[in-house]
Amino acid sequence: MLTITFTPFPVLKTEKLTLRQLSLNDDKEIFVLRSDKQVNKYVDRDPCNSIEDARKFIHKITEVVKQNEGIYWAITLHANDNLVGTICLFNFSNVNDQAEIGYELLPAFLGQGIMQEATSKVIAFGIDVIGLKAIEAYTHPENKNSSKLLMKSNFKKQENIDSNSDNMFVVFKLSLT
Ligand SMILES: CC(C)(COP(=O)(O)OP(=O)(O)OC[C@H]1O[C@@H](n2cnc3c(N)ncnc32)[C@H](O)[C@@H]1OP(=O)(O)O)[C@@H](O)C(=O)NCCC(=O)NCCS
Repeated sequence: MLTITFTPFPVLKTEKLTLRQLSLNDDKEIFVLRSDKQVNKYVDRDPCNSIEDARKFIHKITEVVKQNEGIYWAITLHANDNLVGTICLFNFSNVNDQAEIGYELLPAFLGQGIMQEATSKVIAFGIDVIGLKAIEAYTHPENKNSSKLLMKSNFKKQENIDSNSDNMFVVFKLSLT
């Protein structure tokens, strides 16, 4: 049985990063993440068209975390509280002790190893605190940066593909069993 309780919010720290709760002060960065063409090139979701949309999204995520339906961190560098990316665990399943992971970085923060550091901490949290035995990621076949990140984090590409959306996503899985 998974331990899914996100109150109080689990702030995570790594050598370079603080992973904290999302707040309405992050509205501008969330707007960029959810509207920028480069960030969204391989992601299947409704875009944000305004700061108001970003604020609605933040409210939705706050509720999701409060209801323990998912956990969503704002990634920040220690030196500065500004959000540089996000990372989340969601779709928890008590049947096979599994969840899904998602992540994104603002374009200015790509190529610095930030997501690898964040992913490693979130995976450890998922395994040690929540009790996950497996984590899945669905990624577009041409999303090379994402596939590279997953393989560096010991995820293995699965034979099956996810065809629930217009895009055919490749499934990567990190399994402890
Ligand atoms: C997926 C995504 C987060 C990967 O970002 P990223 O910057 O490539 O990943 P990291 O932050 O881990 O950085 C790794 C890169 O930094 C480099 N790097 C530089 N300094 C480093 C350091 N100190 N430590 C580790 N890596 C370092 C690595 O060599 C690597 O570069 P490479 O890919 O050329 O080999 C990013 O492409 C993104 O936000 N995409 C849009 C959203 C998206 O598609 N999300 C996934 C949906 S499934």
